[in-house]
Amino acid sequence: MNSFISWIGGKKLLRKRIVAEFPEKESFNRYIEVFGGAGWILFASDKHAEIEVYNDVNGNLVNLFRCVKYHSEALQKELEFLLMSREQFFDAKEQMEIRGLTDIQRAARFYIVIKESFGSDLRSFSVRPKNIDNAINYIQTVSERLNTVVIENQDFECILKTYDKEDALFYLDPPYFETEKYYPDRFILEDHVRLKAALKRLEGKFLLSYNDCEYIREVYKDYEIIEMERMNNLVQGEKRPRFKEVLIKNY
Ligand SMILES: C[S@@+](CC[C@H](N)C(=O)[O-])C[C@H]1O[C@@H](n2cnc3c(N)ncnc32)[C@H](O)[C@@H]1O
Repeated sequence: MNSFISWIGGKKLLRKRIVAEFPEKESFNRYIEVFGGAGWILFASDKHAEIEVYNDVNGNLVNLFRCVKYHSEALQKELEFLLMSREQFFDAKEQMEIRGLTDIQRAARFYIVIKESFGSDLRSFSVRPKNIDNAINYIQTVSERLNTVVIENQDFECILKTYDKEDALFYLDPPYFETEKYYPDRFILEDHVRLKAALKRLEGKFLLSYNDCEYIREVYKDYEIIEMERMNNLVQGEKRPRFKEVLIKNY
């Protein structure tokens, strides 16, 4: 199934290719999506493993996922009153900053800001028409999929420590090297170094996505590195630039 939102760096276009690199199903019993975002890899299967975990450090995003999981009907109701328009987009964006909203009110406004911004940048209003009724109805289906998924809101290092076990599979899609500025939560060189060190300590299996660059190739030279290419989905037309990525695995 599809995710219910798009997200910067979302793996919509590469999800089949990425899931094809997972180890054999029998070899892992827990699946952990450490840098969850829109969860495109989680949603790519009806169930990856007995235990499934979605995590992201972004509190607004995790609140949205939790409201979809636990309060889907209330969230749908809240969204019914929010018309899709330029004014509504900027109102929702501004209201995100004020105190006193309930989790459901906050989730609804964040949903609007994601849906209505250009390339999900959370800043500029996108004029492309969308069928918002279908999108709101889809929240129910997503809620059912999340029913057994544990939703966490932690820094990646804590998640790796908490869920590591021999039968674990971690999929990691961190902010790419030198593209970190696109995310509200900064990810600096120190975090990339911290991630490499934490992955080295793992007992379980990991599959890691990154942009294809010299630095990442050097840091992960002891692991298998698989090359991939995708279209740049922020650019329209036939001459879309292609973007090189890598998948790195420890199995
Ligand atoms: C490239 S996006 C993930 C996209 C996701 N794979 C998808 O398909 O939608 C990276 C995510 O990492 C999250 N993130 C940034 N720093 C983090 C940290 N220290 N720990 C956990 N998540 C973090 C960001 O909020 C962002 O949602």
